[in-house]
Amino acid sequence: MGPGFRWGDRMVLLSPWRKPGSRPFRGVDQTAGINKMRPLLQEFGFPTMTSSMFLAASISMLLSAAPVWSQDAAETPTDPQVAKGLYLAQAGNCFSCHTREGGEPFAGGVAFVTDFGTIYSTNITSDKSAGIGGWSEEQFIRAMREGYDAEGNHLYPAFPYTDFALITDEDLKAIWAYVKTLKPSTQQPPANDMGFPFNQRSLMSVWNALFFNGAPFKATEGKSAEWNRGAYLVEGLGHCGACHTPRNFLGAEDESRALSGGTYLDRVSAESYRAWSAVNLTSADDGLKAWTREDLISYMKTGHSNRAGTYGPMNEVISNSLRHLTEADLAAVATFIKDLPPIERSKPSGLQAAELREGDTQYTIHCGTCHLPTGLGSTPGSELGPPLVGSAVVQADDPASLINVILYGGQVPQPPPPKGWTTMKPFGNLLDDEQAAAIATYVRSSWGNRGGVVTAADVAKQR
Ligand code: HEC
Ligand code: HEC
Ligand code: HEC
Repeated sequence: MGPGFRWGDRMVLLSPWRKPGSRPFRGVDQTAGINKMRPLLQEFGFPTMTSSMFLAASISMLLSAAPVWSQDAAETPTDPQVAKGLYLAQAGNCFSCHTREGGEPFAGGVAFVTDFGTIYSTNITSDKSAGIGGWSEEQFIRAMREGYDAEGNHLYPAFPYTDFALITDEDLKAIWAYVKTLKPSTQQPPANDMGFPFNQRSLMSVWNALFFNGAPFKATEGKSAEWNRGAYLVEGLGHCGACHTPRNFLGAEDESRALSGGTYLDRVSAESYRAWSAVNLTSADDGLKAWTREDLISYMKTGHSNRAGTYGPMNEVISNSLRHLTEADLAAVATFIKDLPPIERSKPSGLQAAELREGDTQYTIHCGTCHLPTGLGSTPGSELGPPLVGSAVVQADDPASLINVILYGGQVPQPPPPKGWTTMKPFGNLLDDEQAAAIATYVRSSWGNRGGVVTAADVAKQR
């Protein structure tokens, strides 16, 4: 484990906005947005609303460390409806968000830390009082699609009902059939820790009115059935946009830049969070242009491809969700993603060779053996290091994940991919902030890559 990175500590910060006392995010002008929004908020009857009140509840993300679902080792359900529901629940990754480290499966208690307090995921086992065993199918479908609990209270969008709204009736019924079979657990999540007025769930009606349309999935005409299946999985159940789509100033996904890269925070310890960039998945130069469909399928299935190995929060997405998908569904996801029109997010730094000399030297000393002086990576088969030329992580508008892999190395998921890269070691103790920044700037400015300058302060933020 790299210094400060603890797999046991899985938590997610839902908001891209800063926590009180933490550093602001790069590139998000919080106050500007809120001020613009103020008249609208007042109209809704919230004259004293601050950014935190809304924002916080607005984002949801899974996390990195975490329990791994061993359902594939367990018996496959015999009832076809339940088996279908199990598969869909894997596609939706219910497990990761509803199972806390050391807790019973699906019994909730995973903390989602937001600007205005902490929300805990609920127990969704079939226990009648602690879980949702007493719910009707209608209540379940309403929760998934509209974000209400059984009593009609609003749920917070830390639970991605904004994406789940796209799930068809038929699929929701299958998921419900499966959820009803979950072994009852009496485990109670801790009470949410939110002060007034943030604990007023009714505030969500305003947010929903602004950002949630709840329309069902509609197939796009002129696109193949496979493409539409991919769209359904990516935008609905798979909720890739929860991490990979940038958020607007009130924490809603910015659909005009869908899947072009987002930032979120992962909890490292009780008081500290680390930012990650979830890369641009569109076919942009700073996105997945260099990836073939096969690279993408292999990455989702095994955590490894000729282009990259998973090393951060994608571990959990792959281990608990994507690797369970059928070849046909993974192919559909890849078809949809490879067809995303390019949205370029990064600009070339424009730096000249002389300005890159320090980074060039440090790169040669520390990185070149595996990623090669050309940045092209090792020849397939030697598995020393993936290409950095055309890498979405290297070129991301927000360099957080690039800095993380330099400081903390690659964190290989458990179980490890059957075929994997040799793990990259952490450089956090070998490089000071200036050196790490020089290397990051060098790889972003070389071999045709695009990406802004990384400063020592950017690196310090990730320590
Ligand atoms: C990104 C994290 C995340 C994912 C993925 C997720 N949930 Fe949740 N879920 C939550 C959180 C957090 C809550 C609590 C929200 C609140 O209290 O307002 C919740 C609440 C719920 C509720 C309401 C329960 C109650 O007692 O009010 C249901 C039902 C539910 N989830 C089912 C599911 C199912 C089924 C899946 C998989 C298809 C799933 N969730 C996937 C985070 C998640
Ligand atoms: C919990 C947040 C989260 C979710 C949900 C998520 N991702 Fe990611 N993704 C990341 C982060 C962070 C990275 C950066 C590298 C890593 O974590 O290994 C990433 C990287 C990637 C990469 C590029 C890997 C590389 O190294 O260049 C691909 C491809 C990808 N994700 C696809 C997906 C798809 C498809 C989905 C939806 C099925 C998805 N992701 C859902 C956070 C997420
Ligand atoms: C021992 C070989 C090795 C060395 C030395 C090494 N890396 Fe890596 N690097 C890897 C491997 C292997 C991966 C794939 C992730 C994993 O499985 O650990 C990787 C992943 C990466 C990624 C993510 C690429 C992507 O698109 O997902 C970046 C960026 C990166 N390395 C940069 C660097 C930099 C900068 C240095 C020097 C400070 C460096 N590496 C040194 C082996 C190495």
